[in-house]
Amino acid sequence: MSFSIIGRSVAESVTLKLNETAAILRAKGEPVIHLGIGEPKSKAPLDAILAAASLLNSGEVRYTPADGIPALKQAIIRYTVDHYGRLVTPENVIASGGAKQSIMVALQAILDPQDEVVFPAPYWVSYPEMVKLCGAVPVPVHPEDGTFYPRLQDIEQVCGPYTKAIIINSPNNPTGAVYSEEFIADIVEFTEKRGIYLIMDDIYHRLIFHGKKAANCFKYLKGSLGDSKIILINGVSKQYAMTGFRIGWAVANKKLIEVMTNIQSHQTSGPSVILQTAAAGAINGIQSGVESLRTTLENNTRVMMEQLHAFTGLRVHEPDGTFYCFVDFSVYDKNSTKLAYFLLEKVRVITVPGIEFGLDGYLRLSTCGSIKDITQGIERIKWAIDPNSPNELFIGERKLTRDWL
Ligand SMILES: Cc1ncc(COP(=O)(O)O)c(C=O)c1O
Repeated sequence: MSFSIIGRSVAESVTLKLNETAAILRAKGEPVIHLGIGEPKSKAPLDAILAAASLLNSGEVRYTPADGIPALKQAIIRYTVDHYGRLVTPENVIASGGAKQSIMVALQAILDPQDEVVFPAPYWVSYPEMVKLCGAVPVPVHPEDGTFYPRLQDIEQVCGPYTKAIIINSPNNPTGAVYSEEFIADIVEFTEKRGIYLIMDDIYHRLIFHGKKAANCFKYLKGSLGDSKIILINGVSKQYAMTGFRIGWAVANKKLIEVMTNIQSHQTSGPSVILQTAAAGAINGIQSGVESLRTTLENNTRVMMEQLHAFTGLRVHEPDGTFYCFVDFSVYDKNSTKLAYFLLEKVRVITVPGIEFGLDGYLRLSTCGSIKDITQGIERIKWAIDPNSPNELFIGERKLTRDWL
């Protein structure tokens, strides 16, 4: 069988694969703890459900404009004013099937084969694959000082004549790092001066801890949005716990949105009207769920930090936001894939190998589950890899005996 060069070059989504593995094992009655998950457990906001249910009841479920229904665009405009202090027009907005599709369509609108897209490592697993889907070249940048905080000089060094875009994701998946105001100001200035697109993936921007705030890229834009190459990405998946609704959006200059819309119109004709209506309901509705999720995550992260500090040898960086901790397990195993599969096999804990995010030796642990998931999950990991642990561990009725180490 023959496949295209692009088809062959793209890897499967490891995070989605892990969700599938967890579901299969659970269906078999296995006591799986899923610390790999990238979605909140809370319910979708009632305003979203009621809005969608009311449309469904009407029976009028039709095609929509490819760039989104007016009601959702208006909600996104209000959101952009509220959170970014910038009044945009409907022509500056496109709604897509998740932030993922907005990023994908943006990349397809701007990239030619051989163009390069730069992003700091560790990075969200999909960036390299999405760039490759466009026949372009992903260029991850590892901060030279070994931290999770990129500096402009790290990025400048890899930018050349083929650099078409930079992707910045803060708060960051997988590290939970929130990049500083200075860095965002620098990167906006740099991309503006060099005429490079800047994709700001702000999907976690309201899930921040310790009273911190995410930097607003528009604050540092010198020219008008019409001339700007900033593409601001957001969505309902994370902040409203609406991952399955698949609605995200981009805000950018009108010409680019027009090109993105043309592409999207031939790909999917736009997202489902039911889900767009639900997303508008969430954005326009009561916002207390976002704050409640944020405080839950802050508390869960604190508990996970306490648990992790009980390990000897781990290097732990405290996240400022998101629902991930990215932990250096290299003293136990430098091969993160091997370690993740070992933990799954021996103690039924799912983690995501750091190599998928461009940094081996690390595991990404999610704080989306319950406090019990976190404490028992970390306890099982500790038991499995710490040579000083007792020989036996009980998981419910099941007794595990260590036959390794
Ligand atoms: C950094 C980042 N950007 C974008 C997305 C995609 O979100 P959506 O569910 O809206 O497609 C994710 C989802 O995991 C993410 O972590």
